[in-house]
Amino acid sequence: MTKQKKWSERFESNLHPSIARFNASIGFDIKLLEYDLTGSIAHAKMLAYTEIITEGEAQQLIQGLEQIRQEYHNGEFTPGIDQEDIHLAVERRLIEIVGDVGKKLHTARSRNDQVGTDIRLYLREQIDQIRRQLRSFQQVLLDHAQNHVKTIIPAYTHLQRAQPISLAHYLLAYFEMAQRDWERLGEIYARTNISPLGCGALAGTTFPIDRHYSAKLLGFEGVSRNSLDGVSDRDFAVEFLNAASLIMVHLSRISEEMILWASDEFKFISLTDSCATGSSIMPQKKNPDVPELVRGKAGRVFGHLQGMLVLMKGLPLAYNKDLQEDKEAIFDGVATIKSCLEAMIIFLEEGIEFRQERLNQAVTEDFSSATDVADYLAVRGVPFREAYNLVGKLVKTSLASGRLLKDLPLEEWQDLHPLFEADIYEVITPKQVVAVRNSYGGTGFNQISQAIARAKVQMESS
Ligand code: ARG
Repeated sequence: MTKQKKWSERFESNLHPSIARFNASIGFDIKLLEYDLTGSIAHAKMLAYTEIITEGEAQQLIQGLEQIRQEYHNGEFTPGIDQEDIHLAVERRLIEIVGDVGKKLHTARSRNDQVGTDIRLYLREQIDQIRRQLRSFQQVLLDHAQNHVKTIIPAYTHLQRAQPISLAHYLLAYFEMAQRDWERLGEIYARTNISPLGCGALAGTTFPIDRHYSAKLLGFEGVSRNSLDGVSDRDFAVEFLNAASLIMVHLSRISEEMILWASDEFKFISLTDSCATGSSIMPQKKNPDVPELVRGKAGRVFGHLQGMLVLMKGLPLAYNKDLQEDKEAIFDGVATIKSCLEAMIIFLEEGIEFRQERLNQAVTEDFSSATDVADYLAVRGVPFREAYNLVGKLVKTSLASGRLLKDLPLEEWQDLHPLFEADIYEVITPKQVVAVRNSYGGTGFNQISQAIARAKVQMESS
């Protein structure tokens, strides 16, 4: 480690090496380098525009900053712990490159507004990328949905067979969740895309800066209106981690179902070789590691959200060093979401095959048409509750005799109620049960076609 120097001329002696290590964020905020350079270039341009420095000075600063970008890309800029954080590392290197003029860069700026600017620049880019991934996730769901309108699966409540539905209906349920995630991130993008640059340490600055000018250069939609709030606001990070947590909830739910569906008990999907792994001892095993990992990683994103909330709740205004802790939560939240989305997209695209035969078979082996039998009587004038009780009785006696509803002879139906006629056998076929659920948003095939058409329209907005 480079020898630690005293922090500045205000100090008498050197920082303890362990404390320097404890204090430093360079180990992780190096990730912000590009954004720090971009932010600094905009700041330098603004300083020239407002004639706080000369055009020539700004040019030197910008060239120096661009050189640092090059050095980083060539692996030559590798600041150590002695640099404390990315902002100091860049400023010091800049002074080494351009000399004394480099000392002007920090005019009318503090690391407090600088770090806020950097994270917002970083996060808005990440949000864009995650929204694009969500679109790909939706596309895979939509593709499967289009191929499986007529594939019928059992649907559950309480994990007990409830009613048969179209597989497309199931897939489109996740499409809707992803749509909300996509929209939610769009709203959060808007609040992230606000510039704190120029808030200074906390109170603004005496220099005649133009905050709107630098904000515009950086593509921010606006500037924070209160400098105290500007430097200490991390609401956007909490909101992002909240949105990320919900994405993980959705990914984890579909994961759970894929894991169940791949089991011998369900056999609704089979796992292809490209996304499954084996066991080191049990030669017969093929494991759904991808959805299991996604389900597992949900916890760490929720943890980051919780951590971020606790980080903020007792903080007095304005900047406190506690805020340095926001970065690893954001970075890991971003990395986890991106890797999970990528893996799930591939897994759904090529890691699974729906076992159509087995699915179509499964829905003929249960009593999930019972509601339709009750409805049959109800539309013919029997009060629904009475019909419900009659059918309940029928299910009980059928179970006792080891038969399904479709196995009962017409006399037994008519013994139960004289309104039953031979068409009851058609009414209780899974296909019919699905087809007639034609209320808006239901699983009926007409509704599914409309839902697919709506989904395609939604996919067009980006
Ligand atoms: N490394 C610091 C952070 O990540 C940068 C801001 C430091 N500001 C300060 N006043 N010490 O939050």
